[in-house]
Amino acid sequence: MSLGKNAMDNRRIPFSPPDISELEISEVCDALRSGWITTGPRTKLLERRLAAYIETGRTDIDCETPENTARFTSRVVCLNSATAAEELNLRILGIGPGDEVIVPAYTYTASASAAVHCGASVVFVDIQKDGDPVTHMPEMDYEKLESAITERTKAVVAVDLAGIVCDYERIFGIAERKKNLFRPRGSDGTPLGSLAACIQKSLGRVAVLADCAHSLGASRLFHEGKRRCGAIADFSSFSFHAVKNFTTAEGGASTWVLPPEVDGGEVYRMFQLLSLHGQNKDALAKTKLGSWEYDILGPWYKCNMTDIMAAIGLRQLDRYPALLARREVVIKEYDRICDRLGISHLCHHVPGSDSSNHLYLIRVPGISEKQRNEIIEKLAGRGVATNVHYKPLPMMTAYRALGWDIKDFPNAYDYYRNLITLPLHTKLSDDDVAYVCDSLEAVIGETRA
Ligand SMILES: Cc1ncc(COP(=O)(O)O)c(C=O)c1O
Repeated sequence: MSLGKNAMDNRRIPFSPPDISELEISEVCDALRSGWITTGPRTKLLERRLAAYIETGRTDIDCETPENTARFTSRVVCLNSATAAEELNLRILGIGPGDEVIVPAYTYTASASAAVHCGASVVFVDIQKDGDPVTHMPEMDYEKLESAITERTKAVVAVDLAGIVCDYERIFGIAERKKNLFRPRGSDGTPLGSLAACIQKSLGRVAVLADCAHSLGASRLFHEGKRRCGAIADFSSFSFHAVKNFTTAEGGASTWVLPPEVDGGEVYRMFQLLSLHGQNKDALAKTKLGSWEYDILGPWYKCNMTDIMAAIGLRQLDRYPALLARREVVIKEYDRICDRLGISHLCHHVPGSDSSNHLYLIRVPGISEKQRNEIIEKLAGRGVATNVHYKPLPMMTAYRALGWDIKDFPNAYDYYRNLITLPLHTKLSDDDVAYVCDSLEAVIGETRA
């Protein structure tokens, strides 16, 4: 399609609308009519289906058979956000005041704020200059990560930004090399404290946490074969927020991969307790005739997923492989125009690594922050909504107040300065994609003129 025609058609390209079909709508109506709208059978089924997907890559496994129910139960816990998942991951690890959690400077606040909620100190680490040399993803500078680990470090949070999986083999290698500095916490005698102490002792090194908010379905090749996000790090957190590839409106999930001496069923039970007031019976169990009595085991939190949210997720999961495939088609078109215009972009699919195609980040060589903002405004003038992922955390008021300064993170600033995120979603028609490409070419041409 030619630019002349496109430029005149008053198109509006939103940045990331949810893709909700009649299937999700009908499942939500069924949930509403079922008489059970909070955490219940749909949430439990979604947990099992997500576990099956993470292990096998398949979304069509019948997780209601007794065999698959046994196989996939208590492996994933669904919650009301990734932020809650991250916080509960840290709490189950027993991380709190006096502990340090290492987080890349280049990420969304939730990667860091969860540690702050637990009373721990965040330690930011800069990214590699221009990101990973192959994918261009703004990954941590691993040498800096290694030297940031101290006797107080309890966890490192890696962020699979845009859906591209970090180099976990390298991160685990660093954690192992630094294990002589690791001081596992002791048990305080409570069930949570005992579980946390058992996990820290069995890991014997800083915990590796994956912020998988963007990366459901992404995978990376390891020595022993391909592994999907959720089955890589010690603990992982997913986001099902409305702008994510896979949505439950708000929502999230945690998964864990722990040494055999840690009882996975116990970890799952602790997530249930932490997410539901520390109450030893959930709402479903309490409604059983004569079963009213319950205990409160800890003064904990409230961040469970409802069956209405899970209803959206069940039908999204049916559609997920097709949604990922459509995103990949859009990415290929964007790759083509960016390569032609000499614009650096993320490489979502490279040997040994397949992304979940969540965000398309581009960096325009040689432009200033001001010129970047002008490009965003000009694209907006043509109806194309773009975004910036991310303004580094040391530039934000909350983290500046904690003493962080962007001057100490030159690679993060440099990456952000000329970065634009293009609209990438499944509501884009082929025509829309051509329009975005044409608009980008025209606006970049004006900037370079
Ligand atoms: C990298 C990253 N981590 C965590 C989150 C938090 O997700 P949620 O909104 O589900 O808490 C987001 C949200 O956009 C994110 O982008």
